[in-house]
Amino acid sequence: PGAKLYSANCQSCHQATGQGLPGAFPPLTHLDKVVQAKGGREYLIRVVLYGLQGSLTVEGKTYNGVMPPFRQLKDQEVADLLNHILTTFAKSKAKPISAEEVKALRAKAMSPQDVLKSRPPVK
Ligand code: HEM
Repeated sequence: PGAKLYSANCQSCHQATGQGLPGAFPPLTHLDKVVQAKGGREYLIRVVLYGLQGSLTVEGKTYNGVMPPFRQLKDQEVADLLNHILTTFAKSKAKPISAEEVKALRAKAMSPQDVLKSRPPVK
């Protein structure tokens, strides 16, 4: 289910294999480091629910973009989408993200700027 959600909602910016577009859209292939960091699971869920805005450095490249929020996705869809990206693009073996984790964070709305401030310090 995550693959379809990815192609419908994310692929136009982050590209077919999550490699991103240099200078415009960051890759998603490094996200194992993010999900394993303290606060990383929460950050990834918030990026999808609330979007992201501000200066972000990924793998040595800086982005200064705006990602829209995807509040319309259901809790289970957000979990499926992130688990697809993590296992397929980031080769992560982290514990899968659950719909319950998404639900808990949906109850606490955040601005896309504050989502960026909550990012764990991962290069
Ligand atoms: C950043 C995931 C859709 C544009 C990010 C990050 C994640 C992510 C996890 C942060 C990476 C990090 O902190 O290392 C997703 C998912 C999407 C999606 C799962 C589908 C639900 C989109 C779309 C666009 C977009 C459609 C373009 C309209 C961006 C931009 C950033 C970003 C510009 C960097 C923002 C900044 O510079 O602060 N995305 N994304 N994303 N995404 Fe997406």
